[in-house]
Amino acid sequence: MGFRKDFLWGGAIAANQYEGAWNVDNRGLSVSDIARYQPNVDVKDYKKQVAVNTETIQQAIGDETDTHYPKRRGIDGYHYYKEDIELFAKMGFKTLRFSIAWSRLFPQGDEVTPNQAGIEHYKKVIKALKAHNIEPLVTLSHYEMPLNLSLKYNGWASKQVIDDFVKFSKVCFESFNDVKYWLTFNEIDSVTRHPFTSAGIIPDKSKNLEQDEYQALHNQFVASAMATKLCHEIIPGSQVGCMLTKLTTYPATAKPEDVLASLNINLMNYYCADVQSKGKYPKLVLQFFKKNNIELAMTDDELTIIHDNTVDFISFSYYMSLLAAGDESGLEMTSGNTIVGGKNPYLQSTEWGWTVDPTGLRISLVELYDRYEKPLFIVENGMGSRDILEPNHQIHDQYRIDYFRAHLSEMKKAVDSGVDLLGYTSWAPIDLVSASTSQMSKRYGFIYVDLDDEGNGSGKRYIKDSFNWYKNVIATNGADL
Ligand code: BG6
Repeated sequence: MGFRKDFLWGGAIAANQYEGAWNVDNRGLSVSDIARYQPNVDVKDYKKQVAVNTETIQQAIGDETDTHYPKRRGIDGYHYYKEDIELFAKMGFKTLRFSIAWSRLFPQGDEVTPNQAGIEHYKKVIKALKAHNIEPLVTLSHYEMPLNLSLKYNGWASKQVIDDFVKFSKVCFESFNDVKYWLTFNEIDSVTRHPFTSAGIIPDKSKNLEQDEYQALHNQFVASAMATKLCHEIIPGSQVGCMLTKLTTYPATAKPEDVLASLNINLMNYYCADVQSKGKYPKLVLQFFKKNNIELAMTDDELTIIHDNTVDFISFSYYMSLLAAGDESGLEMTSGNTIVGGKNPYLQSTEWGWTVDPTGLRISLVELYDRYEKPLFIVENGMGSRDILEPNHQIHDQYRIDYFRAHLSEMKKAVDSGVDLLGYTSWAPIDLVSASTSQMSKRYGFIYVDLDDEGNGSGKRYIKDSFNWYKNVIATNGADL
């Protein structure tokens, strides 16, 4: 009983929210450099927070500063990575999940040869991790496609991008061949929620946005399968995972119409993992395309590649749960993880509208393991909160400890019931720029970073109370929560 002996405890970050150094060492512009901090837009209004169009993109390209674009500065992890890794090591991390910024290796996305400076940077990061016995868990694509590919082809809507991604992946596998664990696309299902961030699709360039989104997903499935094949060939013993946003949805009531509505939403939430894990499209999803006049360009060869190169494990993010109803008119809606759904009256929610539901994590683990019968990996879980930096640089974040304790207890119960879980990486072990709102004040870390939403501050790192709590969790392999 309890967690496996080699359970991978750690944390997860992404290049575009962590590194900064957006124009250093030949890095090219990425879609994340367009994300503007918008203090006057409601933080719960994700659609508005992440909305872009051709005009705002051009405006961002014309602005060569990071003043309005916090992801360009991140938390300067590009220069702080050694100190940060030392802090992660102090917590006893067994793994660190991080992403490789595509536009550091291929600034425009379609060069023939990679930018050596980019490769050297990640070699140093991996070396620093290995020196502390921290296993790298690398995401190839985490909301940071080279902007040029978005402008030139409307991103993943075009098949052209598949080859560029596979070339990038191959360089990663060859250059970082001591990395065992890989993820292809972060929250792949998010293409239909924020197509620009996830797939470089500029909505006003699409004639049929819905069609482009599902085509982009298909193209990503093909690219993911090709990368999986290459990874297995280049790095013997490597393991590749898919990554989905686990948006657990309950029926609002026991009314059969509500149960049906939640069933349908969950089926669509699962479909990307279905394709990547089972190697084929679910029949119900093909029927959904037919009914909605979505005609995807897919060849027999592509379907064979998808079929023959399924993932080794299923990874997912879990933040919250939602409600669905046959008739949504009576339902109070809440935001969360870039989606809007019914608010559960039994759950508390945060200032950003995300419900807190530890039992939902256990439900998700059981559902996923039963559905795929492959090892699972929780690669994101955490709660955005405002923290107070006390005059003596202490941060008393009991609320964060409570959140993690509740979630890890439910995770333990799922493992005890037989779920095969490889590891757990919190989002994020260190405060960084929010993906959806570009705020710094939405903090997730065990480590505080002295920067505000406008980028003012020393950038210094301070340990929160939760740091020592998590350190003890890891030291006892989850026995003492
Ligand atoms: C996930 C993303 O959706 O949620 C992360 O993979 C993101 O990149 C995390 O940071 C939390 O979301 P936010 O908007 O609070 O940063």
